[in-house]
Amino acid sequence: MKVILCNDYEEMSEKAARMVADVMRQKPDAVLGLATGSTPEGMYSRLVAMNRAGELDFSGVTTVNLDEYYPISPENDQSYRYFMNTHLFDHVNIDKTRTFVPDGMASDPEAACAAYEETLRQVGQVDIQILGIGQNGHIGFNEPAEALEVPTHVTALTESTIKANARFFASESDVPTHALTMGMGTILRAKSILIMANGQAKQAAVRTMLEGKLTTGCPASLLNLHADVTLLCDRAALGQ
Ligand code: GLP
Repeated sequence: MKVILCNDYEEMSEKAARMVADVMRQKPDAVLGLATGSTPEGMYSRLVAMNRAGELDFSGVTTVNLDEYYPISPENDQSYRYFMNTHLFDHVNIDKTRTFVPDGMASDPEAACAAYEETLRQVGQVDIQILGIGQNGHIGFNEPAEALEVPTHVTALTESTIKANARFFASESDVPTHALTMGMGTILRAKSILIMANGQAKQAAVRTMLEGKLTTGCPASLLNLHADVTLLCDRAALGQ
């Protein structure tokens, strides 16, 4: 794993945006694997600025998101579809029919996961997968467990993730208990992976991931199996 230490959140966001922009310039019909959470917000605002300045074209791009709460409506301002619309899609010249997020309203969530895998197969390999990391080492919503799932699947959120994400909801009891998420196998199929981490709360997870061993207790550690992963982080997340 290549580690790039950044001085602060701004530098991390700037570098991440530049890496995504480079992929898009080399391949105007790139497939971007996108993540939500507070970590990539700065990257998205820079991508929007580049698009507005006429420096970056989203017209040929396809996007696939990692995960979505379940159940949740796309109109709910805490849904990941809403997040993507408000942080990126509504502000750039992207074809919204080429933006995919797992269906948080599906009546049959298992079938929605299978359909999402089919969509992923149809759009082709993800050129760059953006990831954040949970305080407990989760990626997407692949939570620490004795065994991890390979394809897109329905998962129950852990108590610690519900607590960590409660800050975005009116109360902890409003956080959905489940999610649909790409599995570890889905994520590892990407051509390249860019994972971002900032702040001390991420330190334990980042350190375990960087030990280079594989453990299902820290799903992010499985990224050590991939040949092209870049970690962009600040000193607090690295523990330096
Ligand atoms: C959420 C998301 C992840 C995200 C992580 C960290 O639960 N499912 O995709 O990377 O938690 O979030 P944040 O960036 O807000 O710390």
